[in-house]
Amino acid sequence: MRHGSLEATAKALVAEGKGILAADETVGTITKRFESLKISSTEDSRRTYREMLVTAPGASEFISGVIMYDETIRQKGSQGTPLPEICTRSGILPGIKVDTGAKDLAGSPGEKVTEGLDGLRDRLSEYYGMGARFAKWRAVIRITERLPSPNCVSANAHALGRYAALCQEQGLVPIVEPEVLMEGPHTIERCEDVTAQVLQTVFNALYDQSIILEGMLLKPNMVISGKECSKQASVQDVAQATLQCLRRHVPSAVPGIVFLSGGQDDLLATAHLNAINQLPSPKPWKISFSYGRALQDAALETWHGKAENLQAGQQAFYHRAKCNGAACFGKYAEEMEADLSRKTAPAHRADWHDD
Ligand code: 13P
Repeated sequence: MRHGSLEATAKALVAEGKGILAADETVGTITKRFESLKISSTEDSRRTYREMLVTAPGASEFISGVIMYDETIRQKGSQGTPLPEICTRSGILPGIKVDTGAKDLAGSPGEKVTEGLDGLRDRLSEYYGMGARFAKWRAVIRITERLPSPNCVSANAHALGRYAALCQEQGLVPIVEPEVLMEGPHTIERCEDVTAQVLQTVFNALYDQSIILEGMLLKPNMVISGKECSKQASVQDVAQATLQCLRRHVPSAVPGIVFLSGGQDDLLATAHLNAINQLPSPKPWKISFSYGRALQDAALETWHGKAENLQAGQQAFYHRAKCNGAACFGKYAEEMEADLSRKTAPAHRADWHDD
């Protein structure tokens, strides 16, 4: 195992003021997002879009790594350079989604377990050869009155542990992503209870499977009210509950916490990250972002599948990355949004994330 390089990669991914772009939507998910804007989804249009993001001028000031999907990591840019090489050359670490999706968990109606362990060692080795230096595996946990079941939490935690061990064996930093979903009418208190239980179970599994904590990153949900909850917690309450939960359940040896956005409005996701970083309580880890929708929505809408909008799409992406970079220092201010004169979320706002 390459301890030193794992630690160095993990640290580089959470370098000061930088975070990760999650651009690893499956073909099915990106197609739904494109179709909501009437953009045709072909191998070429998906490549053009993702090349637009990773080649956005100045992106590497705020973006340390990009998570790709299997199709993307094998693609070449318009000048014939493989996309992972384009990233590496511009100082952005290539990463790869390696789970094969959340599937129905037998014996637990309404719950999912993430699959993809079979053959994972060989896939990781191939991805390493293509330039990937980190990986992602997403588990999904749903809240209802009776869920999650202990079985769902432990099955997903076990799989995350086995994935993380294989990644570290193959020299890739595992991003461990246990996502407690926002969907539902639950309160922020209920989200905190479930997130606490999930994080504790996940770190127990990581311990059992001898994971080097210094060579991994955690990608959790924020502690937030359910989308259909009648009482939506304030930005300050979300920040406090999130930091409290993380301080109680995430070991300090983990170098960084990179949040998912989970369907939050893009500006709200930035405001939450900023408020967390502004809190005075000690934070033993870097606290940053690994957003998908909250980094991409404005860029996708601006680009709209049209060559003449490529530059504007890149500017929209750069802008969101810059705002989130500032939020890593707790230095984001709403006035920064005036740069692009857009204060509301893009109209198409896609809520789903099914991979
Ligand atoms: P969102 O930020 O859109 O939730 O995506 C992050 C991600 O990578 C989920 O797996």
